[in-house]
Amino acid sequence: MFNRRRFLASCGGLLLASNASRWPHAATFDNAPFALGVASGYPTPTGFTLWTRLAPTPYAPDGGMPNQDVLVHWDVAEDDHFSPIVASGTALATPAWAHSVHVDVTTLRPDRWYRYRFHVGNAMSPVGRTRTAPALESEARLLRLALVSCQHYEHGYYAAYRHLLADDLDLVVHVGDYIYEGSWGNGKVRSHVGPDPTTLIGYRQRYACYKADPLLQAAHAACPWLMVWDDHEVQNDYAADHSRYGDDPVTFVARRNAAYRAYYEHMPLPEAMRPRGVQIQIYTHVPWGRLAQIALLDDRQYRSYRPCSSARMPSTPDEVNCRARTAPTATMLGAIQEAWLDQMLASSTAQWNVIAQQTLMAQNDGILGPGEQFNTDGWDGYPAARTRLLGALDRHRVANPIVLGGDVHAFWVADLPRDFSVPHSPIVATEFVGTSITSYAGDDERIRTAMHEAPNIKFGTGRYRGYLRLDLRPEIATADLRALRNAQDLNTPCATLASFNVVSGRPGAVRA
Ligand SMILES: [Fe+2]
Repeated sequence: MFNRRRFLASCGGLLLASNASRWPHAATFDNAPFALGVASGYPTPTGFTLWTRLAPTPYAPDGGMPNQDVLVHWDVAEDDHFSPIVASGTALATPAWAHSVHVDVTTLRPDRWYRYRFHVGNAMSPVGRTRTAPALESEARLLRLALVSCQHYEHGYYAAYRHLLADDLDLVVHVGDYIYEGSWGNGKVRSHVGPDPTTLIGYRQRYACYKADPLLQAAHAACPWLMVWDDHEVQNDYAADHSRYGDDPVTFVARRNAAYRAYYEHMPLPEAMRPRGVQIQIYTHVPWGRLAQIALLDDRQYRSYRPCSSARMPSTPDEVNCRARTAPTATMLGAIQEAWLDQMLASSTAQWNVIAQQTLMAQNDGILGPGEQFNTDGWDGYPAARTRLLGALDRHRVANPIVLGGDVHAFWVADLPRDFSVPHSPIVATEFVGTSITSYAGDDERIRTAMHEAPNIKFGTGRYRGYLRLDLRPEIATADLRALRNAQDLNTPCATLASFNVVSGRPGAVRA
């Protein structure tokens, strides 16, 4: 199929300029077109992806932009003065993609911080700060990242991001529920703009609502992000093309496609992740010198349908003593992604192998003693898939695996055995789950029960909102559980609730 945008890109700036001439270069904007901020992501040793979206009236269906292509200029420099500019170019913002801009910069030096900005007409964007990854064979001494997830706009303010800005981070890793498609709970501090989204226009408006937040914008502008989605970027607890609420499959897939497209339009995702038809691949891996490799998994798009969950009882899936969950064919990643991950892990020479994905991986049984109750939306609904993944870590002798997750609105620290169904199975990985940025949690009764049942769970609490900070050094990894006093107070303090170490060569978390 003829792809006009790629054709234009391959033909260089001359054609781009003539194409965009319907929108004058001296365009003036009554409202700042960079109202949704700037962002960067996916650092490589020679660059990163830059993002912005022109939306002078962010909540309008067209973002306040004309139905025309617009040329946007971008600059990269090593300091705030942009002198000299070390890379620059133009990108085409088109109505078909909500005038979003994605630029893969590939000509920079490894292991360096840069500044970037966009300009169009009379408007200049805020300046963002980002960095390249270390060269592939270099000995990086430290990688500091923040793990974040679950940021329901109505449940609180983004104070966690204000604290995270002081952490001198190399990366933010967001593992999903960046937006919420619906409202729930009481005592909300603010309201979504517009109705719950089901269409492309609706999801664009929902992203505009979240991305208008100044603290979220500041966190994006401070360092590169890595991203994966979870369920609420589309619909609560969906599995592949299957709605938990029994939606008509054709209608649901159309909704999912709209949601995936809007996600791409609003995130600093590389060009390679641009949706093509109904296909969008967001799983990938990011090397960080010899120190680390970060795999980013998509466990929503390709998973098998949730076991023991009935559309007739959407809010009460029959999770007690659910036999169907042990089906050996169950998959979380789908065959293609699973094979890719297996191959990637087998060939990794990184000191630390981080697997960032959506949800809690450790088995957690909600019934004390005999009988069992598992959350079948998570890995406990797909134990055969979990055993294959953990078995691959063991089989390939993968160095220092660390699993990162979110989704459950609680901090969890756990040692992951090769096979949960085998008593005394050896520990092969360490798991850290970050709590929600704002989203409400249930009480801790369920977590206490799970911990009582499973000594491999070292820590768990859903009492706090916040984030998890992870420092990777050649000999040791340290996780700090960063807890807010009250996420409904914009000025709330943040403290380290607990810290855990993982010593290189010894899987398992040790309280610091
Ligand atoms: Fe969530």
